Amino acid sequence: MKKAPKPDITGRSEIEELVNEFYKRVREDELLGFIFTDIAMVDWDSHLPKMYAFWETVLFRSGGYRGNPIGAHSQLVDRAEMGKAQFDRWLTLFCSAVDDLFAGERAEHIKNCAEDMANVIYSRINGVPDPRFTPENLTPEQKRRYSKYKSVPAEP
Ligand code: HEM
Repeated sequence: MKKAPKPDITGRSEIEELVNEFYKRVREDELLGFIFTDIAMVDWDSHLPKMYAFWETVLFRSGGYRGNPIGAHSQLVDRAEMGKAQFDRWLTLFCSAVDDLFAGERAEHIKNCAEDMANVIYSRINGVPDPRFTPENLTPEQKRRYSKYKSVPAEP
């Protein structure tokens, strides 16, 4: 039997579903789980609603997120490994949670936003250049997307 097509993200309820599923996977992950549970000792009852607001703000400009993601992650650098391996795992878990639940324009968009922010947060908190500033590190999709900004050369 043909599977029903997956829905796209249309509003708050899909964001909540995605965030819940993503952090369920994060908590079970051997590279990331303990950073949340043992090191940061995250209070999930306040972290999850904050993350619903964050992603709603990113996607729909509603949600009312006010916070400081760079500051929150900077505090972790001295206490936990927050390198490329961790950020790659974070992104893999995020994108697979999106793909398992949703499909469509917004599903693609939220993965692109997550990838961009992962690069920004990783480079800012570790004091290294943003990997995307080296043109050969860009994926074809990123090259297309960034070609509208003059500082990044378009695909030759
Ligand atoms: C290695 C990867 C990452 C780890 C281990 C990590 C871990 C954490 C932890 C422990 C907190 C603090 C929770 C608390 O104390 O309440 C947090 C907050 C947060 N994280 Fe991450 N994170 C990672 C990557 C990312 C990425 C790539 C994004 C964005 C796409 C992101 C977005 C946020 C936001 C928005 C907050 C809330 C900040 C605030 O307090 O306003 N995180 N993260």
